[in-house]
Amino acid sequence: MSDYVRIFDTTLRDGEQTPGVTLTPEQKLELAIQLDRLGVDAIEAGFPAASKGELESVKLISEAGLRAEICALARAVKDDIDAAMRCNPNSIHVFFSTSDVHLKSVLKISYDEAIKRIEEAIEYTKLHGFICEFSPMDATRTNLNFLKQVCKVAERAGADRIDIPDTVGIMTPSSMYKLISEIKEVVKIPISVHCHNDFGLAVANTLAGIEAGAAQAHVTVNGIGERAGNAALEEVVLALHILYKKKTNINTSKIYATSQMVKRLTGVAIQPHKPIVGDNAFAHESGIHVKGVVIEPTSFEPFKPELVGRVRKIVAGKHAGKHGIKTILEESGLTPTEQQLAEIVRRIKELGDKGKTVTDTDVIAIARSIMEAPPAEKKVLDLKELAVITGTGVIPTSSVRLAVKGKDYIASETGVGPVDASLKAIQRITQNLAKVSLKEFRIEAVTGGSDAVAEVIVKVEDESGRVVSARGAREDIVMASVEAMVNALNKLLSRKIA
Ligand code: KIV
Ligand code: ZN
Repeated sequence: MSDYVRIFDTTLRDGEQTPGVTLTPEQKLELAIQLDRLGVDAIEAGFPAASKGELESVKLISEAGLRAEICALARAVKDDIDAAMRCNPNSIHVFFSTSDVHLKSVLKISYDEAIKRIEEAIEYTKLHGFICEFSPMDATRTNLNFLKQVCKVAERAGADRIDIPDTVGIMTPSSMYKLISEIKEVVKIPISVHCHNDFGLAVANTLAGIEAGAAQAHVTVNGIGERAGNAALEEVVLALHILYKKKTNINTSKIYATSQMVKRLTGVAIQPHKPIVGDNAFAHESGIHVKGVVIEPTSFEPFKPELVGRVRKIVAGKHAGKHGIKTILEESGLTPTEQQLAEIVRRIKELGDKGKTVTDTDVIAIARSIMEAPPAEKKVLDLKELAVITGTGVIPTSSVRLAVKGKDYIASETGVGPVDASLKAIQRITQNLAKVSLKEFRIEAVTGGSDAVAEVIVKVEDESGRVVSARGAREDIVMASVEAMVNALNKLLSRKIA
């Protein structure tokens, strides 16, 4: 068994058969260039007989001077093969159904007739000097003796490779291993495997086929394709390199960029937990895992994310621990004290418990608001309670209970809205300590959804002209505003006291 596995990429053909996906010739060319850079051995560029656009695409890609073998798909009929030839590809992938269900119920032809058409189509392709890969479609549901006969006929007729398609994805790794071993007994030309993912086994079946001696894997980027898709290029390649110690020509560092390009051009989303290319494939949230990967990445990662062009992501949330949050903050140049870090983690877990997805931006906003506030021992003011009334037909009113140097004070104020009323109520309580005017007030919804953590920045000036600015970060805009105001007053008053 050779160590080298050929990668035959069919993103532009089987991948484009994903319901709802159509690519223009220019988009296909853009992707073909990227696949070529990625290092695939063959690019199945399309099915020229299917439409004028398909013919144009395959022609465009064939003429692009790419390194990879450019292949065109054709049914085992003269017109299809002629259309494929007009695109001037390097190879033609000829297919013909061989299972009983296809031959008897759909095509209504005998085994003998099928053999005749296969033989003629391959001979015709070879006569014109093209590399020919032949697929007995629905091979895995084809009578085994007949399949072997078809493969022998294809080899005799001049086929350069035989592909065994698991057209409806019904194989298991052990049945695939057995089938490829049997086919290898009867033909000498290289064998390909083409697995569909109807039971989620496409990658496993592809790898089993290769273990049994198949020389080439048909794959698509992100595993897109008919119904549940095809074997995913990125999963097959990484498993081959790392788990099976095989070689391919793929430059794995370009995998993520290629995956993103396929996502962008096809509009097919990638599930977050998809191996290799999903958003969460290298993301760590749980405190135990984060502590592990920060100290030693291999503790919770099978390989470095950089290998596939990605970076590790530490996610904040209710499972997060100090290590993860500290890493996120350090990456943004923030180094909180132990006390501040404990408070930041407490606030993040509180948000997570409320069902909020905490983003890195939220973490930074929360951290800044906590880190910029004076330390607890220097705080003059401490917000104890806040209640607001707002809506139509009522005057926005806010009642605030604020501890000033440990003694509680209560005030209520009305305003144009709950934020205005709350800031006035705070100013009323603190007016004897510092008479301030609001110079600037800015709200930034830092994430995006209606449950986003809002970051409020205020700038206040006291009677002597001292100006301070401070932040508040809460998922509630009124609370964020009040927090920012209290932080600003604390800054002013703590300086006065010091
Ligand atoms: O899945 C399949 O059988 C195919 C053929 C065209 C090879 O895609
Ligand atoms: Zn297919």
